[in-house]
Amino acid sequence: MGPTMSGGWKSCPKPPKKRRRTPYDEIVELCNLPPEIKELLPRRWERYGDVVILKLPKELTSYEREVGRLYAEVLGANLVLVDEGGVRGLTRCPVVRVIYGEESEAFHKENRLIYNFDPIRIMFSSGNIDERIYVAELLKGSGDRRWVVWDLFAGIGYFSLPAGREVKGGAVVSVEINPLAYYYLIKNLVFNEITDRTIPVLGDNSKVIVPGTADLTISGYFVEEGWEEHVARVCSLLKPEGGLILYHFLAKKKELELRLAMLLKRFSRELLNRNLDVAEHRCRRVKSYAPLVYHYVLEVLARPTKGQKPSGEDWASLYK
Ligand SMILES: C[S@@+](CC[C@H](N)C(=O)[O-])C[C@H]1O[C@@H](n2cnc3c(N)ncnc32)[C@H](O)[C@@H]1O
Repeated sequence: MGPTMSGGWKSCPKPPKKRRRTPYDEIVELCNLPPEIKELLPRRWERYGDVVILKLPKELTSYEREVGRLYAEVLGANLVLVDEGGVRGLTRCPVVRVIYGEESEAFHKENRLIYNFDPIRIMFSSGNIDERIYVAELLKGSGDRRWVVWDLFAGIGYFSLPAGREVKGGAVVSVEINPLAYYYLIKNLVFNEITDRTIPVLGDNSKVIVPGTADLTISGYFVEEGWEEHVARVCSLLKPEGGLILYHFLAKKKELELRLAMLLKRFSRELLNRNLDVAEHRCRRVKSYAPLVYHYVLEVLARPTKGQKPSGEDWASLYK
């Protein structure tokens, strides 16, 4: 008997699936460098609009112009930068070098928001995307509560943009110390059409806060020196009925427990001064930051101490 629809045809071997040609394959194909150098071409890169950022091994340094041109051509980028390692100083200026193209601004789209910035002077951490989305979701889930959000290290609006889009009837106060980042923050508030609910402030957050006004505070910067004062400042910002604190920090995995205990002790102490308590807390890992060092976020829900009548919303419902 010949093949049947249910038997014979099914057993016919399928032609092997052809792997899709990736941009990396194309880059390797077009590259005229020696094979041992070709092997070192980066398989991954950061992309912000028309800007591509590469990490290059030192063996590629003498070929970097050619490499930059190649990546620009295949990826359709206007500007290619080499990431020389992290960020510098208080303003978190990236350590990058141009290997192709002319200085230009990035227009990065993420979560239906536009982030405009100068990629040579302003950092953008793609690894924090889940946290940016988390802030948007948190506010989206806040119903009709008119939250007042203080973004204490606003930069170009990393958290202020998702917060600003979702805050309903409330406001986002965005504090930024670096005039260049502040310039892009203003532009981004305009581009994303949220100027009616955002209050940008150029200045040092240790000088400009208004105590007792926040439902949510965001500290998206790794405060090392003077972290105790910063914790005190954050706690003083909360409304008498309490609120939520998002506090970013760095720690080695093996030191996390100790660091967390120190932070929580400090938060408890400072909150107590304001008749508030750590009602709940949780900590999550955002990303790997350096060898053995991780970026974490501590989330603290502060509520009036027992015996104090909560005068606001039932914050615990946030966690249901
Ligand atoms: C770029 S974001 C940090 C992103 C990322 N979490 C990190 O720390 O690498 C931090 C922003 O906080 C700003 N900043 C630093 N100290 C500040 C202060 N005391 N008051 C307000 N803004 C400050 C910096 O200029 C920068 O734009």
